[in-house]
Amino acid sequence: MDTIVIANWKMYKTGAEAAAFVKKLQVPPKKVRAFIAPAFTAIASAAAAAKGSSIVIGAQDIHDAEEGAFTGAVSARMVLEAGAKFVILGHSERRRLFQESDALIQKKVGRALSSGLLPVLCVGESQEERESGKTAEVLKRQIGACLSGIKPSDIILAYEPVWAIGTGKTATPEMAEEAHLLCRGFLAQLWGAPAAKKIPILYGGSVTPETAPALLKQGNVNGALVGGASLDPQKFSQILQGAVS
Ligand code: PGA
Repeated sequence: MDTIVIANWKMYKTGAEAAAFVKKLQVPPKKVRAFIAPAFTAIASAAAAAKGSSIVIGAQDIHDAEEGAFTGAVSARMVLEAGAKFVILGHSERRRLFQESDALIQKKVGRALSSGLLPVLCVGESQEERESGKTAEVLKRQIGACLSGIKPSDIILAYEPVWAIGTGKTATPEMAEEAHLLCRGFLAQLWGAPAAKKIPILYGGSVTPETAPALLKQGNVNGALVGGASLDPQKFSQILQGAVS
């Protein structure tokens, strides 16, 4: 499968900054796909700038309802209209800072799929959970709950150990591969092995141009979800260029 590298811009970059970034990005090598998730307000200008290129633009969140009286919220249909093709769901910052539960994330996954958005479901253990040997249990619970009642579908899974996000501490390639194998096993329990084999599993957490190549060489690391290093067009281009397996 192609290697997918997603830029998660979080609350950085206006529409003008997003468009300028997209124009600066080098064309990724064959079999490497560049995805970018700008803030809601920058999706349309990023999508316009990416037109005619292979860069895929997405959103960082959606509301789980189709529409309604939800002040400040943005729906799947709205981000689709702006040019989003995928949506990041269940990011640990949404779980921690916005109190998103597995049950809510499951609804959002369903909403994304029924609306025609590709969900990028994030899972991952905290430092404390890893230290107490609970990594497998946490991944199983998150994957089981966030995909409960959802038929085998095209999704992307992102393994993002919470202790590695924005901390400069990257999981070693071996640790990532081990966790990705666990994730694929839990997907297989839910959806069967043939379907699980087809799901790209990305690693996220302090990925840099230096750490990406070794991580992406692992058999079950099918791409990366990049925060900090994705804000710089040179660094993000470097990660893409080094992503050929
Ligand atoms: P980071 O963020 O690369 O800055 O650690 C990753 C993420 O939050 O997806």
